[in-house]
Amino acid sequence: MEYRQLGSSGLRVSTITLGTMGFGGKGWASAVGQIGVEGARRQIGMARDAGVNLIDTADVYSQGVCEEIVGEALGGSRDEVLLATKVRMPMGDGPNDAGLSRHHILRAAEASLRRLGTDYIDLYQVHEWDGQTPLEETLSALDALVTSGKVRYIGASNLAGWQLMKALWVADRRGLERFVSQQIYYSLQARDAESELIPLTLDQGLGVLVWSPLAGGLLSGKYRRGQDAPEGTRRFEGWDEPPVHDEVKLYDTIDEVVAVGEELGVSAAQVALAYTLGKPGVTSVIAGARTEEQLADNLAAADVVLSAEQVERLDRVSAQPLRYPHWHQANTASDRLSPADLSLLGRHISG
Ligand SMILES: NC(=O)c1ccc[n+]([C@@H]2O[C@H](COP(=O)([O-])OP(=O)(O)OC[C@H]3O[C@@H](n4cnc5c(N)ncnc54)[C@H](OP(=O)(O)O)[C@@H]3O)[C@@H](O)[C@H]2O)c1
Repeated sequence: MEYRQLGSSGLRVSTITLGTMGFGGKGWASAVGQIGVEGARRQIGMARDAGVNLIDTADVYSQGVCEEIVGEALGGSRDEVLLATKVRMPMGDGPNDAGLSRHHILRAAEASLRRLGTDYIDLYQVHEWDGQTPLEETLSALDALVTSGKVRYIGASNLAGWQLMKALWVADRRGLERFVSQQIYYSLQARDAESELIPLTLDQGLGVLVWSPLAGGLLSGKYRRGQDAPEGTRRFEGWDEPPVHDEVKLYDTIDEVVAVGEELGVSAAQVALAYTLGKPGVTSVIAGARTEEQLADNLAAADVVLSAEQVERLDRVSAQPLRYPHWHQANTASDRLSPADLSLLGRHISG
């Protein structure tokens, strides 16, 4: 297992992170998995044996049950792993049971610590944007958690480029803790992140944890053109994230992923994970698994090496058109681009 620095922080994390959204199976998470404490203990054991040192959860997964399962499954070995959790989504019906207010963050952090059975969270992430709470309030609450030792690093998730950049600016201006990472959706199914979030990552020295690197299983090779979603999968259960806007392109991409897998003698899932892990700015992919067979398959992706020619084919089939202002910058600003700009525009300029 390779370990990468989480952005500009001193923390080193494994290139594969264990996702736990399928632990608990309560409410909307029931379509993702129904894994209990024993199953979680086995998944965590397999991941740790493979060298995984980061486990990602969230307070909202199964309404707290997921965190409880992670805490119980870890038991006395909590200090041997890094725990990432999240705050922002509703944890009750009250007016202050959601969001990024000081009130909710401080209460939610205590609740997560209790459920996880620990006295510190390694990476505390804001799960989504809250456009109604001042960033100064959110960041000063997170800063207080770091100062108190209850949280070690803070991260963002699912923010737009301008929102994240504003948060970094507010933190710098006020001398508050800065986000060290962002957790984003980024896969061969949709490379939207390359237009703003990845250049921002490179420019600002953030780490990137990729959620749903298999597009919720779409890239695993078991969804094929003209066929219904296989029984027992989350799509079969009606799960609709990530959205698919272009089915032809999706199945063209899946065909290429499967073809590369056959060339290398590895699964399509491993190809899709290795592709995303090879992208600029990416620190780790958060692999979720309903079964231990899936997890074993995904963990093996850490050792898969794609050739430049295979990456080029996958790049080509999954390429997205440049959006404004990027197409204009590609046409007229190519004389003065930064390395961050070039992560998006370089290929288009060189053709
Ligand atoms: N920050 C956020 O907003 C956010 C959002 C979503 C997830 N996350 C985090 O990211 C983690 C991963 O998300 P995800 O579960 O959506 O990731 P994913 O890797 O895109 O999808 C995992 C799903 O794909 C299928 N699968 C996985 N490996 C497979 C394999 N080798 N062969 C065939 N099928 C396979 C399984 O679903 P089926 O058995 O149903 O096919 C599995 O549950 C979560 O656990 C959570 O920690 C964060």
